[in-house]
This record gives sequence, C-alpha cells and structure tokens, in this order.
Amino acid sequence: MSLKDSINLEKLPKHIAVIMDGNGRWAKQQGKNRIFGHKNGVNAVREVSEACAELGVKYLTLYAFSSENWNRPKLEVSALMELLVRTIGSETKTLMKNNIRLKTIGSIDTLPSRAQEQLNSVKEETKNNTRLTLTLALSYGGRAEIVDACKKIASQVKKGEISEQDITASTINRHLYDPEIPDPELMIRTSGEYRISNFLLWQSAYTEFYFTEEFWPDFNKESMYQAILAFQSRERRFGKTSEQIKSV
Ligand code: IPE
Ligand code: IPE
Ligand code: MG
Repeated sequence: MSLKDSINLEKLPKHIAVIMDGNGRWAKQQGKNRIFGHKNGVNAVREVSEACAELGVKYLTLYAFSSENWNRPKLEVSALMELLVRTIGSETKTLMKNNIRLKTIGSIDTLPSRAQEQLNSVKEETKNNTRLTLTLALSYGGRAEIVDACKKIASQVKKGEISEQDITASTINRHLYDPEIPDPELMIRTSGEYRISNFLLWQSAYTEFYFTEEFWPDFNKESMYQAILAFQSRERRFGKTSEQIKSV
C-alpha cells in the first residue's frame, strides 16, 4: 500500500502549519548560494499545497518570513522579497485552477509596496476559492501577534465597549491576525531544528509537532504523507488520561 493510501481521510488534520527551514544549508551542500536554496524552496511549496488540496486538508499555513528574518543580510532579504513577488505572480493561475484561496498573516505593511500590491490583488482574486486556504506568514512574529491583539482589546476596554472581566481566551482568538483560521492540529519543521522560532505561539497550545531532518527544498508530497501518518498514530489527550480518551 502506498503512503497516501494508508492515510485515514476521516482523521485528517484540518489545519497544518509548516516552518519551512533549511534552504540555506540545502544550497550550501551543493556549493550554491543561499538564494538558490530559496528558489528551490518554491517547488516544495507547490508540492505541499497540492498534496493538502488533493487530500482534503482545509488550511495550510506556511512560515515564509519571520519578523526576525529582517535582520538577515540586505541582499538576501531583497532576493526573498523579489522571489515572493515573482512567485505570487506566476502561481496565481495555478491557485485559481486548483480552487485555492490565498491569505496572509503578519505585519504585511512592512513589506515592500510592490509585494503588498501583488498580495492584495491575488488575495482578492482567490477569495471565493474553497478547496484549500493557503496562508503565508510574512514578516510574522507570534509575540507581535499577541501584543497586537492585546492593544486592540485594551482600546476596546478603554472605550467601554467591553469590560475587563469579559476578557477570555476567545477574546484573544478573535483579535488575532486572522480569527477565521482554526488552530493547527499539526506543525511540521524541516531541517532538523527543534524549535518554534516565534511561529503561531498562541495557536499551538495543543498542536502536535513533527520534525524531520529533510531540508525544505527536498520536502515533497511523500514527506507530507509521512507527517500526516505520524500525526494519525498519536493520541491527543488535551490533559485527560488515555482511558478517558478511549472511552468516548
Ligand atoms: C528557511 O531557510 C527560509 C527562510 C527563513 C526565509 P533558511 O534560509 O533559514 O535556511 P537555513 O536554516 O539557513 O539552512
Ligand atoms: C524560521 O526559520 C522562519 C522561517 C522558516 C520563515 P529561521 O531559520 O529564521 O529560524 P531560526 O533563526 O533558525 O530559529
Ligand atoms: Mg533557518
């Protein structure tokens, strides 16, 4: 039986988040520069988007550029921005054909204006697509997202629109960058690093983590199937005992 056929389609994660790491090391391995690695990372983005759409995963969120990545060498940052603009432009047709909706989370207003315009137009064009929601985390930081939510809530309290006692976890949820996107059940990180690097901090409270040694440009559909199978073999207990979970 193929890996794909072993997946239980009734128990698919609804939302998968990916920390796409290892482009630089992948390139270095072949004696190329880091930018070459980023360019090849685009193929893996295509692969995982297709795999998720085909299986019926509804949300895929990709960490493409962190708020800390602005501290990289200028040349690498501008190459990444250029690659973003070019890729979005060339992939719009495929998104439409595959019925994929594009969204973004992060401080989008800090991106170069051309990238912002390009993103806005593709988000608008794909907004009624229903098969998969592909969210790019760009200039994204989990702490900044929580800080921004706190600011919005504080201003509502100040205006008397809500009272301090009414603040709950759902209030925070409602003020995240995109409240419509559910928490990820599965988070994947490639390249053999075992950390969260400021990604979806609030949303990953009960997320299952999957780590692989593969560098991002090598990650393909089969790698995604493996991650989903690992997820399906786990027991998610949410603080309860194993016996309680089995009795329902
Ligand atoms: C991930 O690959 C892509 C981005 C962070 C933009 P890296 O560029 O971090 O690659 P490594 O970790 O240096 O190999
Ligand atoms: C995390 O990767 C950010 C993205 C994948 C966009 P990094 O390569 O920036 O993370 P650290 O610096 O190794 O933690
Ligand atoms: Mg890295």
